[in-house]
Amino acid sequence: MPQKVAFITGITGQDGSYLAELLLSKGYQVHGLKRRSSSLNTQRIDHLYQDPHTPNQQFFLHYGDMADSSNLTHLLLKIQPDEVYHLAAQSHVAVSFETPEHTADVVAVGTLRLLEAIRHAGLASKTRFFHAATSELYGLVQSVPQRENTPFYPRSPYAAAKLYAYWITVNYREAQGMFCCNGIMFNHESPRRGETFVTRKISRGLASIALGQQPCLYLGNLDAKRDWGHAKDYMQAAWLMLQQPHAQDLVIATGKQYSVRDFIQSCAQTIGLELSFQGQGLAEVAIITGFNPRFDSNRTPNFSRGQIIVRVDPRYFRPAEVDTLLGDAAQAKQQLGWQPTTDFAQLCQEMMLADLTLAHQERVIKNATLHLAGLCSEPVMQQALGRDAAIDRNAAQEPNNVSAALPQHHNPTGHHHD
Ligand code: NAP
Ligand code: GDD
Repeated sequence: MPQKVAFITGITGQDGSYLAELLLSKGYQVHGLKRRSSSLNTQRIDHLYQDPHTPNQQFFLHYGDMADSSNLTHLLLKIQPDEVYHLAAQSHVAVSFETPEHTADVVAVGTLRLLEAIRHAGLASKTRFFHAATSELYGLVQSVPQRENTPFYPRSPYAAAKLYAYWITVNYREAQGMFCCNGIMFNHESPRRGETFVTRKISRGLASIALGQQPCLYLGNLDAKRDWGHAKDYMQAAWLMLQQPHAQDLVIATGKQYSVRDFIQSCAQTIGLELSFQGQGLAEVAIITGFNPRFDSNRTPNFSRGQIIVRVDPRYFRPAEVDTLLGDAAQAKQQLGWQPTTDFAQLCQEMMLADLTLAHQERVIKNATLHLAGLCSEPVMQQALGRDAAIDRNAAQEPNNVSAALPQHHNPTGHHHD
């Protein structure tokens, strides 16, 4: 069989990285769209990178943007993909209230641009198209659980833009005869989840607290309920959808629902913490009531009984909230033979352990940096850190400010997270 060629938009994101791994493992040639950025945005796929001089290169990255239709058409003409996985999006619901026009441009019109690029490249009958649709379409849910035929009621600029993207995908299937599918995916997480989504904010925050790097985690609506699965499983479903004889739109979900509070409790259990939620509304807090260490002594946690480690901050409330989502993936199970393989407790454990390791590494870097700062003159320290002395001059002079030596995405306070 000839080798299949795939094009992934959003390859640098959580899902894109798992999908690229999956397709490469299946022998695909994989092309990904990446945005130009002033700081590195390829951390999730750096392990897949292949030097252009590698014989038989199978992994390619191309600069582009969902806002640039000529770039997309040019890439489609050049790559001639058998399968397009459209994952690129401004995917943060809270941010979409702040940047509604940009979100609509990238999410809604961006999807149209990509479909048109496939058509203009003469690939309408060859290329199969997967669109990462979302359970956010159900928004103010009209029935429980949500299925393929449940009416949509979007509650954010993000969801409204995804509504257009959903229907334009259906329209290109019906009007242009293209093989186009919507995977109506419920929330899916992993250790690669962006740090401003609630699950990762929790695992990252608890790990930082455990290592004494942060006193408390500030969150918004603890009552929100979601159907949380593992991103790897959801990318398996996306691939299966493009291998079917007919294109269709399917719900991808676990069928189980938990609250934000449950997610905190489950992560806390992983590290042996007993928490009690006390108070109500803005005054609600999570307090440590017991501690039973479950991980190695290198990562000795900094907990004390009675310590408040979660508080509510209204800045993380949304102008319109999606209170509850619960999917029924019976169709996907029946037609794709798909099953989620990671349950809620396993997901929390995987994320928590990965973030503990990360927090531990950061502490080692921080301590080494402080040690160097004490030992060395500033230029020597900068050389040792391999950094530009001019950029980090302030950090070097201020012993408590080690953030410049930490990975760029690190935010130990949790305060600025959405
Ligand atoms: P993510 O981690 O936020 O990744 C989004 C990707 O889109 C990143 O690669 C990002 O590039 C890229 N992107 C953003 N704006 C772009 C633009 N203007 N041009 C080109 N690329 C752009 O999201 P994810 O969790 O992997 O989700 C993947 C897709 O599934 C998204 O469409 C999301 O809306 C949808 N979805 C996600 C979930 C979920 O629970 N994860 C559920 C349902 C649907 P940078 O790395 O440069 O920012
Ligand atoms: N981000 C965030 N930060 N959410 C919080 C916080 C907080 O501090 N505190 C409570 N929440 C609540 C939100 O109000 C929401 O109800 C819930 O936690 C989940 O928020 P997110 O993790 O940001 O995800 P989302 O459900 O809004 O959106 C994600 O899932 C969608 C699928 O349903 C994103 O991945 C979307 O792109 C995706 O379409």
